[in-house]
Amino acid sequence: AAPCDLYSSGGTPCIAAHSTTRALYSAYSGSLYQVKRGSDNTTTNITPLSAGGVANAAAQDTFCASTTCLITIIYDQSGKGNHLTQAPPGGFSGPDLNGYDNLASATGAPVTLNGQKAYGVFMSPGTGYRNDAASGTATGDGSEGMYAVLDGTHYNGACCYDYGNAEVSNKDTGNGHMEAIYFGTSTSWGTGAGSGPWIMADMENGLFSGESVTNNAADLSITSRFVTAIIKGEPNQWAIRAGNSASGALSTYYSGVRPAASGYNPMSKEGAIILGIGGDNSNGAQGTFYEGVMTSGYPSDATENSVQANIVAAGYATTSLTSGPALTVGSSISFHVTTPGYTTRYIAHTGTTVNTQVVNSSSTTALQQQASWIVVAGLANSACYSFESVDTAGSYIRHYNFALLLNTNDGTKQFHEDATFCPIAGLSGEGNSIRSWSYPTRYFRHYANVGYAASNGGVQTFDAPASFNNDVTFLVVDGFA
Ligand code: AHR
Ligand code: AHR
Ligand code: AHR
Repeated sequence: AAPCDLYSSGGTPCIAAHSTTRALYSAYSGSLYQVKRGSDNTTTNITPLSAGGVANAAAQDTFCASTTCLITIIYDQSGKGNHLTQAPPGGFSGPDLNGYDNLASATGAPVTLNGQKAYGVFMSPGTGYRNDAASGTATGDGSEGMYAVLDGTHYNGACCYDYGNAEVSNKDTGNGHMEAIYFGTSTSWGTGAGSGPWIMADMENGLFSGESVTNNAADLSITSRFVTAIIKGEPNQWAIRAGNSASGALSTYYSGVRPAASGYNPMSKEGAIILGIGGDNSNGAQGTFYEGVMTSGYPSDATENSVQANIVAAGYATTSLTSGPALTVGSSISFHVTTPGYTTRYIAHTGTTVNTQVVNSSSTTALQQQASWIVVAGLANSACYSFESVDTAGSYIRHYNFALLLNTNDGTKQFHEDATFCPIAGLSGEGNSIRSWSYPTRYFRHYANVGYAASNGGVQTFDAPASFNNDVTFLVVDGFA
């Protein structure tokens, strides 16, 4: 049995079931998600390999070969039609056209399930999905449950990496108008033990870790790579439960009455569904979603325990984030431009600006050093890399407002993430493309001979689709210096 079969048996059926990695009903063989590729803006649906099975990642890989792909729809497997699509603006606008949030890369979160490759939904700040016309979701003080399997190492402190029930207007309509799983290190409202990340309940104008609106020491920091996060609520009762999605059982971090503040008892749930954003479309948060459901009715702990056992049996594990020609930690490299007409150029820096410059063996030592980079283990993720300047030890290529800069490592999580890149096989068919770990829709690109972390189409000039594949493809060669 799959998660939604178990919820059905427990009398609390799924009314929304979202996953890019696998079927959540043992009989489900329909579409899991839709991807759109950058080369011609066409779409395709990805289905399980067999009923109840793992997603057909190979079909995505074929469709997305030598281009970029975005996740455009995360289908609802419950039959209620509660699909998630690009979130519209609300109290806050997103960064994409017309104030929409960005769509996620289809390739930012590769994993394996019992050895079979699949892709999760890696969501950078500014990314969000929503359904404002969901059917069957809890409204008012109605009862519901939800779980999500997330990446326990991908989070931040911004508002709000959520999955669950939110406002149909995309605006903050007051206390009690949401009931969603939150995951991250926000300290703006409640907190748990340690320094986080925590699972909390977003009930609107508050992330709650328990009855007290401030700290609840029983809500433990999450330490596992894959985390099962559970929130459920019924009249004057709600709970937080958590587990390692790859092994073991769930723990209950809170179960009790509604928060000690006005507006949460009774609740005023509205029944929209959000992923990766706050109820008012706050979109500064980041996180990775693999699967999740919402139910009708308050699931029993026993039902959830059987769902956790099923998740563990699915066998989530990490896999490589890189492809193409391999890089060697400790080596000095240069990035040779491949765009026709620009092939005398290499990625270099002038002060803090990262650009391309014409470099060869007759160039000055200073210029040769400006165009040479030491490969180090990724500052935010050792499965990827960071690039330290040969002439300015302690400074690394990072993106800032999506420009590539050479900055001193200030030791912050933000810097480490901005300076971590995952090389993949070059999009134009040779060499490497250097994808941002934290914004996997974005790659090292030269545009007007300046360096950017660019996406294939987007609101900035340097995201122009023309010449994208060539501009993001570099030959990684021995460093000049
Ligand atoms: O409750 C926390 C956040 O506050 C909600 O997600 C958002 O709508 C509001 O800004
Ligand atoms: O480059 C995008 C973002 O801009 C970086 O992540 C952040 O440091 C800056 O605000
Ligand atoms: O960086 C040089 C060129 O500038 C790029 O190839 C092109 O996309 C842009 O016009």
